[in-house]
Amino acid sequence: MLKLGRNDTCWCGSGIKYKNCHENFDHKLNSMRGAGITIPPHNLIKTPAQIEAIRESAKINIAVLDYVAEHIGAGITTEEIDRWVYEQTVKYHAIPAPLNFKGYPKSVCTSINEVVCHGIPSPNVVLKEGDIVNVDCSTNLNGYFSDSSRMFCIGEVSSEKKRLVDITEQSLQVGLSQVKPWGLLGNVGAAINSFAKQNGYSVVREIGGHGIGLEFHEEPWVSFVAKSGTGMVMAPGLIFTIEPMINMGSCHIRTNRKDGWTVRTADGNPSAQWEIQVLITRDGYEILSY
Ligand code: MF3
Ligand code: CO
Repeated sequence: MLKLGRNDTCWCGSGIKYKNCHENFDHKLNSMRGAGITIPPHNLIKTPAQIEAIRESAKINIAVLDYVAEHIGAGITTEEIDRWVYEQTVKYHAIPAPLNFKGYPKSVCTSINEVVCHGIPSPNVVLKEGDIVNVDCSTNLNGYFSDSSRMFCIGEVSSEKKRLVDITEQSLQVGLSQVKPWGLLGNVGAAINSFAKQNGYSVVREIGGHGIGLEFHEEPWVSFVAKSGTGMVMAPGLIFTIEPMINMGSCHIRTNRKDGWTVRTADGNPSAQWEIQVLITRDGYEILSY
């Protein structure tokens, strides 16, 4: 770490003196590191200007998902959802972050029933009454990234599927109860995992949340089966997603070998996911995208 004088300009880009800005913050982090806690490097701590730019990206992500929410229903193909997401995102002068990301061919992920995540939109996939579908949108606005997803129930769905969708949504609030400045990230995942288990469900282990903002996926990796008392300290200025995938049956998953993307439950039972993007603030948190 760079050794800054107390009267030097702070590393965070605020333009004010270190002693009046992040000096106490660094002392706190250093003592936590001394106690064996994982601390975020400075490059994960967003500056006020970066936060403002990420917030603008997130507003678009919310608007795109709101558009999907207004138009989705039985008879719609996932290809049409992809087109909506592309058209709405570019209307706001942004780019869908999934498009061409590591070779991903579409603008959005649409994951139906037993598809856990990364379902690829297709003209051959028609939403039908009784389906539950996750629509996962991510926006790149001038190099600033946002990411969130929601579940949609198509027409009347079974009470079992409805409960899975509702419990998964509630798990975000359970996770958020552990989101506080200077708390440990593992507490978030531990709370979500125990809530899912109490309700008879299992949580996907291999895929989790992530830091986000200057890149689509940044450190830290966010596990939703983490142990409490572990993980990175949630320092103010950190931004990450909470996006648990909760399965009705076993936690095991398989990735489609042909398309390289579509992740399904191994046992074929339904899976649900909700995703929010959270900023840690000095006195709490702000949900940037949902
Ligand atoms: N939006 C997903 C996430 O929540 C990532 C999708 S990667 C893609 O992290 F390439 F499939 F879009
Ligand atoms: Co994400």
